[in-house]
Amino acid sequence: MDIVFKVLFTVFFFSLVTQGNCQCPGASALSIVQNRTGKVVANKSQWEVTISNNCVCTQFDIYLACNGFHSVEKYIPQVLFQLRDGRCLVNGYGIVNGHQNFTFTYSWDQEFPFKPLKSRVICS
Ligand SMILES: *[C@@H]1O[C@H](CO)[C@@H](O)[C@H](O)[C@H]1NC(C)=O
Ligand SMILES: *[C@@H]1O[C@H](CO)[C@@H](O)[C@H](O)[C@H]1NC(C)=O
Ligand SMILES: *[C@@H]1O[C@H](CO)[C@@H](O)[C@H](O)[C@H]1NC(C)=O
Repeated sequence: MDIVFKVLFTVFFFSLVTQGNCQCPGASALSIVQNRTGKVVANKSQWEVTISNNCVCTQFDIYLACNGFHSVEKYIPQVLFQLRDGRCLVNGYGIVNGHQNFTFTYSWDQEFPFKPLKSRVICS
C-alpha cells in the first residue's frame, strides 16, 4: 500500500515538475542569430542580434556570455546590461515572451559570439 502510494506520488510530483518547466529547458530553448545590417557606425560594421525564444513559455533572467564585448554604438542598459563578471542581461529583466524575438544592434569590427548562458521559464 505504502509503496503504491509512494510510486503514485512520485509520478504525480514529476508530472508537476515537467509541466512547470513546460518542457523548455531554459537556455537551450534560446537561439541567437546575428546579421550585418549593412550600416557603418564610427567605421565599424553594425550587427543585429536576434534572440529567439523557441519555447511557448516566457523566459526571463536571460543571461548571455559577453566577456570582452565592446560596441562603439551606445546601447542602453535596459536593452543590454553588461555585468562585470562577463555576463549580459538582455531586455531589462531578461524577458522574452514565448515564441517571440528580442533584437538589438551593436557596432564593432567583428561579430561578437554571444552565447545564451541561462534563463528561467514561467508557464502560465
Ligand atoms: C542572418 O544570419 C544567419 C546566420 O547567422 C543566416 O542563416 C540568415 O540567413 C541571415 N539572415 C539574413 C536576413 O541575412
Ligand atoms: C576603418 O576601418 C578599416 C577596417 O577596419 C581600416 O582599415 C581603416 O583604417 C578605418 N578608417 C578609419 C578612418 O579609421
Ligand atoms: C524570430 O527570428 C527568427 C530568426 O531570425 C525568425 O525566423 C522568426 O520568424 C522570428 N520570429 C518572430 C516572431 O519575429
